[in-house]
Amino acid sequence: MSLGDGGPAAKPPQDGARANAQWGGRFAGGPSAIMQEINASIGFDQALWRQDLRGSLAHARMLARAGIIDEADESAIRGGLEAIGAEIEAGRFAFDAALEDIHMNIEARLTERIGEAGRRLHTARSRNDQVATDLRLWVRDAIDGLDGQLAALMLSLAIRAAQYAADPMPGFTHLQTAQPVTFGHHLLAYVEMLSRDRGRLADARRRLNECPLGAAALAGTSFPIDRRLTASLLGFDRPAQNSLDSVSDRDFALEYLAALAILAVHLSRLAEEIVTWCSAPFGFVSLSDAFTTGSSIMPQKRNPDAAELTRAKTGRIVGSLMGLLTVMKGLPLAYAKDMQEDKEPVFQATEAAALCLAATDGMVRDLSARTDRMLALAGSGYSTATDLADWLVRTLRLPFRTAHHVTGRLVGRAEVLGVELAGLSLDEMRAEEPGITAAVFDVLTVQASVASRTSEGGTAPANVARQAADWIARLQPGVAA
Ligand code: ARG
Repeated sequence: MSLGDGGPAAKPPQDGARANAQWGGRFAGGPSAIMQEINASIGFDQALWRQDLRGSLAHARMLARAGIIDEADESAIRGGLEAIGAEIEAGRFAFDAALEDIHMNIEARLTERIGEAGRRLHTARSRNDQVATDLRLWVRDAIDGLDGQLAALMLSLAIRAAQYAADPMPGFTHLQTAQPVTFGHHLLAYVEMLSRDRGRLADARRRLNECPLGAAALAGTSFPIDRRLTASLLGFDRPAQNSLDSVSDRDFALEYLAALAILAVHLSRLAEEIVTWCSAPFGFVSLSDAFTTGSSIMPQKRNPDAAELTRAKTGRIVGSLMGLLTVMKGLPLAYAKDMQEDKEPVFQATEAAALCLAATDGMVRDLSARTDRMLALAGSGYSTATDLADWLVRTLRLPFRTAHHVTGRLVGRAEVLGVELAGLSLDEMRAEEPGITAAVFDVLTVQASVASRTSEGGTAPANVARQAADWIARLQPGVAA
């Protein structure tokens, strides 16, 4: 998936080049160096080489089946394309900026290798439907790769959630201590988010899985092509139905980038939490040497750089979505060269997302929770005040709003005395509400608080353990999503 897998850098543009061998029929001279530089996409679209070869193999087979080219031409084309694949794989292919893009680089090389038959491959096809097909195939492959990474990360989180299902930590709202939750429950929140990310990618994949090939430049073709055959050879569900739309829309790429942007936001929030949890004042988790770096000046430092960079790469991924939305807005139908700018955002966002998923998975597997510290802080900041209010409602039948006020006054009293709620004496409690009995102290512990949250989706350790086990069972490799 990396951008660098296309082999060596392309030959740089030069002034005074010959007219393009692929389309230069009506051109006497070649483009200026600067024209070539702004026009050429081979520097980045060489990443599409596998998809381009697959598309051409399917197209050639269809042309032969439909009697548009001879079987012998098809077999020469197939042999030539396979040999080109081997050349690129081995880094022996000479990419040339004068040939603009991956499509013309491969076609030119094909003709160089097999002669006349190579010149027949582009029958009933245009680079417009070709590139739309290639990029869909690339995005589809990328989705499949990211889906596997997402499942792996969810499994890692669920395994840690099972381990920490009963370990309390402070739960926050406004980053102020709110109510105790368990660390396992907190980790499972991210499993839910990532599962929706998987769903968004699966939706995008379903919608993109229509084949543009056969739309040709924009209007379709007069040749008797079989679009169903090319679609099925390439694993598409069906041919795309409007030739103008097929070559000029990139909503499949936008949807994919939107799904990645939301995924990146989720990973960034977890990264931010890991950064916070690792800081000395929190001290909730520690990362090993494998996922931290040191400082060149401060010998004591252990910095969570992988988390910080995961947080930061969200900028790149969201930026890719914004970039492509901006490229597409206002483009008249059908194809315009602007659309060549669709690839780098897609490639870069994919590379960043894959790296962030791997880094996050690494950190989740690596981290160790300091459960004693979490437990101590889970009980501070009057985190069980709601439990006290609920007790007043349940036991004394006070209206909740009244119970809230009574508890608020008790928190104020405890604050003055510098103690937690459980540090107030029964007399002090009764001074606010005479009905309070010693039984109230049973609900003021952190363990009692989390254990009582048995409502569906609540943080009770038994709930968390069950949910973690369910996720682990569903996410085992080989189990369908
Ligand atoms: N390199 C081009 C792109 O990525 C391929 C399509 C070129 N089509 C054209 N009509 N010039 O969009």
